[in-house]
Amino acid sequence: MSDEGTKSTSTADDGMKNPGWAGETGEFDLSESEVRGVDYVGEQPTEGWDAGGVTAYPYQRAERDPEAPLFEGPYRERLEKILRRYPNRRAALLPVLNLAQEIRGHLSQEALERVAEVVGETPATVRGVATFYTMYNKRPVGRHLIQVCTNVSCNLCGGHDVFKSFLEHTGAEPGTISEDGEFTVIEAECLGACGFPTVVQINDRYFENVEPEHVPEILARLRASGTAPASDGGTDRASSGPGLETESRWEPEAKSRSKPTSKKPRGEG
Ligand code: FES
Repeated sequence: MSDEGTKSTSTADDGMKNPGWAGETGEFDLSESEVRGVDYVGEQPTEGWDAGGVTAYPYQRAERDPEAPLFEGPYRERLEKILRRYPNRRAALLPVLNLAQEIRGHLSQEALERVAEVVGETPATVRGVATFYTMYNKRPVGRHLIQVCTNVSCNLCGGHDVFKSFLEHTGAEPGTISEDGEFTVIEAECLGACGFPTVVQINDRYFENVEPEHVPEILARLRASGTAPASDGGTDRASSGPGLETESRWEPEAKSRSKPTSKKPRGEG
């Protein structure tokens, strides 16, 4: 990408700059919408939007109806728009799976079979694809899907303790939905932000430099973030609560955002 393409000016609507991956070096000056694109979900208009944006919404909301009819009404229009973007139906498999998950919140066997019909593949092939990618939920998850990285870098800096802390404070077993329907906690493989362990991805947000004692505050902020309006396909960014909607990553108040963690791996003096 050219310099002209990467160095653009933030827009006031985002209220933030330079999310995550550039390491806060100041080298880039991107707004969040420039990095993430603009979500295209739920009831948003089928005209004038980039149908490919559907691929940016892989997460479950507990409010989703697991029995909802697939690909009807506005979702039928979305489906047709997606299919038109590809040379054949088979090539549209991933975004069609995403759309099915957006409607129902997870991909049941019956949904996979329906997708197979739409794209002209066998249910076994579609299942093989859906089970390969971890962003497809094969069973329902809570409103906040908490993925704690326990891969090497994060685990050396206490990732497993962070994972246990999330389980303890949500009351959920790994991979199950907490009693209040809010949380599902799972372990994740490397989330690609190894310089900021422990990394936790919650829906589409990264929380970096997380330590076990930070977990109650994070959960409190998630609970306070309001009910995501499933009816209009809302996202965390659009929810009414404080904090999360303008941040791409979280750090405790006292920590500088400009420096990676200085924690030592376990076992070092
Ligand atoms: S090991 Fe945790 S983000 Fe890479």
